[in-house]
Amino acid sequence: PLPPRYQAELPIPAVIQPVRSDATTDYYEITARAATARILPGQDTEVWGYQGTFPGPTIESRSGRRTVVTHRNALPHATAVHLHGGHTPHDSDGYPLDLISPQGGGDAMAGMGGMSKMAGMPGMSGATFQPQRDYTYPMNQRAATLWYHDHTMGFTGPQVYRGLAGFHLVRDDEEAALGLPHGPRELPLMIADRAFAADGSFAYPALDGNEGKPGVTDAYMNGVLGDVILVNGAPWPVARVDRARYRLRMLNGSNARRYRLALDPQPPGGGGLLQIGSDGGLLERPTAHDTLELAPAERFDVVVDFARYPAGTSVRLVNQLGSGSTSEVMRFDIGSGGGADDSRVPAKLSSIERLDPAKAAATRTFVFQKSQNNWTINGDEYRPGRSLASPKLGQVEIWRFITDFHHPVHMHLDPFQVVSRNGDAPGAYDAGWKDTVDVLPAQGVEVAVRFTDYAGRFLLHCHNLEHEDMAMMAEFTTE
Ligand code: C2O
Ligand code: CU
Repeated sequence: PLPPRYQAELPIPAVIQPVRSDATTDYYEITARAATARILPGQDTEVWGYQGTFPGPTIESRSGRRTVVTHRNALPHATAVHLHGGHTPHDSDGYPLDLISPQGGGDAMAGMGGMSKMAGMPGMSGATFQPQRDYTYPMNQRAATLWYHDHTMGFTGPQVYRGLAGFHLVRDDEEAALGLPHGPRELPLMIADRAFAADGSFAYPALDGNEGKPGVTDAYMNGVLGDVILVNGAPWPVARVDRARYRLRMLNGSNARRYRLALDPQPPGGGGLLQIGSDGGLLERPTAHDTLELAPAERFDVVVDFARYPAGTSVRLVNQLGSGSTSEVMRFDIGSGGGADDSRVPAKLSSIERLDPAKAAATRTFVFQKSQNNWTINGDEYRPGRSLASPKLGQVEIWRFITDFHHPVHMHLDPFQVVSRNGDAPGAYDAGWKDTVDVLPAQGVEVAVRFTDYAGRFLLHCHNLEHEDMAMMAEFTTE
């Protein structure tokens, strides 16, 4: 039986405080561990969470101030942490073989998922294990909604599914000067579907329940979908809001599900979802939408003005691509109070330098395709250490992504700009700096990218996490 809708209050992940700060840097410590969460009424669910919570605590960084996160691992399986959207050097990028070994002691080490067994698994040669890792994020990047999540070779899908994901917000002066809704009127929303077993545990259809080998059972080749929609870890929650503007930082944290989100009812006149930002931060100008389509890992920064509705209205956030239980996401219950709303959404938000495709130094094509039992890029399954491209730092390149099925394509290191979709103009949801692009079945999408600052090995992959684990990943080497 599914849990009831609109019973839970929308949880807001706690903002974690640095353990210390100096003139240039804020230092954080985070331990991934198993914990019991009350997600379903009357039932316990074991989560694997950063600091034992799902979502993990929110990290807030100031642009230009270095952030160092020491990650430890008290789980029975190795981990690697990637800051999605981070402009991060290779060493701290959560390369899938740069692992944090499990700290669970003898038993855990002896298990199938333990470090020694893992090191002997195919595809794992070259893995390095450390008892803890310091991830150093220079944070030379503009304000944006980033997120951090597990990126372990072959096991990202199950480990994120159990809860290893959290927000990492970057703030800067430009954004702070705009007067956007903030404080209790700024809500991060991690939308993720899950399936539960009868005992309340997360049901993940792993090929090998002991994580001895990656991948899911045949029926889930296309990705794991659940029938319960969680927002910040709660099923179909309710947020009580004032008649005022709210900034909603939407993240599709699902393994494989796409959403088309809409407000129901729409405010009079429509256009209730006013997009102000994308994966890589603010757009130049706000753009009003009736619906928003989010592929896994995409972020949409949106302002909703609940003053456009009468007090007492309940507004549902629905998913037009869902059916039955997955067609609803959460609800906003509008109170009568709230007092003054001094927030603003200026007509000009920011300036975005246009990467000129005509100046591209190279055009590269990446074909995302199914093979027999795996998913491939340019015909090959991921092999660590093999590089598919060597872009030069500072040069603009065009990267073309061609798909068979739906693949949300994600690049590490730098954001990009969508240049065209099937030879046509970019789509309604392609605006601004992106790090993940929703490539629908049999589409070709061209993006312009310019890698900067950090030479080294980085990843390009499908962010359907089952596809990623089943080898739809490649490396490029910036030089
Ligand atoms: Cu959000 Cu390489 O991943
Ligand atoms: Cu894919």
